[in-house]
Amino acid sequence: MLRFTFVTLFPELMEGYFSRSILARAIKEEKIRIDFRNPREYTKDKFNRVDAPMIGGGAGMLMTPQPIMDTLHALKETSPEAHVVFMTPVGKPFRQHDAKRLAKKSHLIIVCGRYEGIDERVIEATADEVFSIGDYILTGGELAALVVCDAVSRNVEGVLGNSASLNEESFESRLLEAPAFTKPDIYENRTVISEFLKGNHSKISDLKRGLALCKTKYFRPELYKKGMADEK
Ligand code: ADE
Repeated sequence: MLRFTFVTLFPELMEGYFSRSILARAIKEEKIRIDFRNPREYTKDKFNRVDAPMIGGGAGMLMTPQPIMDTLHALKETSPEAHVVFMTPVGKPFRQHDAKRLAKKSHLIIVCGRYEGIDERVIEATADEVFSIGDYILTGGELAALVVCDAVSRNVEGVLGNSASLNEESFESRLLEAPAFTKPDIYENRTVISEFLKGNHSKISDLKRGLALCKTKYFRPELYKKGMADEK
């Protein structure tokens, strides 16, 4: 069982994601556990504030250290082994190999920033890792934390019914997946690649690899080059 604790000012933004589908089942079957801590409940500010202007100037507000630090200290006291992850646009890119690695932890605490970010000293003092999910700025880390949680959870033993589907996927092989089709053979005048219909599995698998290579070279040239270099 992998426990996720989200440190967020807006747990209600996130809760719905766990109410249906694969993650809801994973929670019910105790493969993962989800809980939330709201730094606002830990603030010692008499007006309940959790943010302040940046020292030295700059647009917007930052999350102040005390509410998040106290939240994290309280969590770590009962769960010293917990692995603390911060979501920010200036973290290292989150990748499939991180999802697989983090799936082996017992407790992940994922801290979601809001406003213009978090006082750097909090990150310095408490972060085990800092992740970005891509080169764009979201309004907060909640969506990014859900992305990480989703990608990690499906690598937790027993969360996906069919573990074969985990290994056949894109990024396991460093290639984008080949196009895939289902019934019917012809839909709105578009037909399934004819070789796929003939049922020769070794031919289909060769063709899929070729298509995966083409797709990767076209959409993700940097991934393609890296894959080619690794195979040498
Ligand atoms: N918070 C805001 N933007 C983000 C991003 N791109 N990745 C992770 N956390 C974020």
